[in-house]
Amino acid sequence: MPDRTISSASDVTFSVPFVHRLRITDDVCGDDYPVLSEALEGGETGEARVLLIAERVLQENAKRLEQNIRSDSSTKLVSDIVWIDGGEASKNSLDQIKSLLQTINEENLDRRSYIIVIGGGAVLDAVGFAAAIAHRGIRLIRLPTTTLAQADSGVGVKNAINYFEKKNWVGTFAVPWAVFNDTKLLESLPDRDFRSGFSEAVKVSLLKDKNVFHWLCANATAIHDRQTETVKHAINRSCQLHLDHITQGGDPFEMLEARPLDFGHWSAHRLEPRTQFDLRHGEAVAIGVAIDCIYSSLVYGFPRESSRAVCQCLDDLGIVLWHSQIEPINELLQGLEEFRQHLGGRLTVTMLQDVGKAIDVHEIDETQMRSAIQILKHWRDEL
Ligand SMILES: NC(=O)c1ccc[n+]([C@@H]2O[C@H](COP(=O)([O-])OP(=O)(O)OC[C@H]3O[C@@H](n4cnc5c(N)ncnc54)[C@H](O)[C@@H]3O)[C@@H](O)[C@H]2O)c1
Ligand SMILES: [Zn+2]
Repeated sequence: MPDRTISSASDVTFSVPFVHRLRITDDVCGDDYPVLSEALEGGETGEARVLLIAERVLQENAKRLEQNIRSDSSTKLVSDIVWIDGGEASKNSLDQIKSLLQTINEENLDRRSYIIVIGGGAVLDAVGFAAAIAHRGIRLIRLPTTTLAQADSGVGVKNAINYFEKKNWVGTFAVPWAVFNDTKLLESLPDRDFRSGFSEAVKVSLLKDKNVFHWLCANATAIHDRQTETVKHAINRSCQLHLDHITQGGDPFEMLEARPLDFGHWSAHRLEPRTQFDLRHGEAVAIGVAIDCIYSSLVYGFPRESSRAVCQCLDDLGIVLWHSQIEPINELLQGLEEFRQHLGGRLTVTMLQDVGKAIDVHEIDETQMRSAIQILKHWRDEL
């Protein structure tokens, strides 16, 4: 190599302050609307310009919110509500994004305008992505309408769509302007979606807080039965643990090797497309969390009774811990390589030594992983 002298170089570390606004409301589309109005800052005219985007299933709530915005002198709705179909299909192609960008352009939204989105995690991801890339970022207000989105993704700083049949392949990091976790928005959610969302709460409690995990185990049946106060508490605790990780964990944009909040996700993300999204994200995560807990028991000393407690808790929540597409296991194991590729560098997967005690590992013992999956298949007898 020839000798090179660098004549000038500067590596400057800098930080940018973000504000993350989380509000807990009972009916943000109705009586609690003033809390939302307060979060909007008007422009030169004193008016905040707003585009309202909602999942079709949330029609009733979205229309009540629309009325409130229209009769609020400090806000201006730039158009009628933009309706989109929800579920994973909303983030499975670029067409949805193109159409959202078209609307943002036609309505002349700028970086001081707001997009308010009402919907489940999939819709939040797709709309969040469009909002993040239009003008390099329009203020996004999320009103999550699933338990999963309220307990996890709503306060997250990621958004993405699926591409090349891979989960979240195209996306950005962007901090939302505000997030409203609202009780009424969950009322119409079908039981299957309602219950499966709590797998992310179980996940984050296993990583961060054993008291929350034990509380979830003790209250799983009440959550399954949709007892309001218990459900609210579970969502708040989970959401707060996710938020603390993002705002105080030192790596909100996942620049480091480890992605602890993706515990159990290497297999979940592989399983979802393998089932043609028959499995909900929450259901796939429950299976992924159970697999990695059992593997942690086989390899890292995670107590076996804790693995059993995890499976029991997810079962009490009403989540089925198996799907035929888990096999052939070879196919599932490809998820590890996809997981590695997503971040680049060497494989880093989070495992558990104990509840609340996570470790990052760089190798997976395939034989033990196969055993873990076999144990999950018969967990009632074998754990
Ligand atoms: N960005 C992140 O950090 C992050 C984190 C976790 C998950 N995610 C993503 O979130 C998505 C899963 O989100 P989800 O679990 O909220 O599911 P979802 O958005 O797919 O919604 C599930 C179903 O419920 C319907 N629905 C939503 N709210 C409803 C309501 N209140 N009443 C009636 N029906 C309603 C939807 O139309 C859909 O059919 C996945 O794509 C996952 O990858 C993203
Ligand atoms: Zn997830």
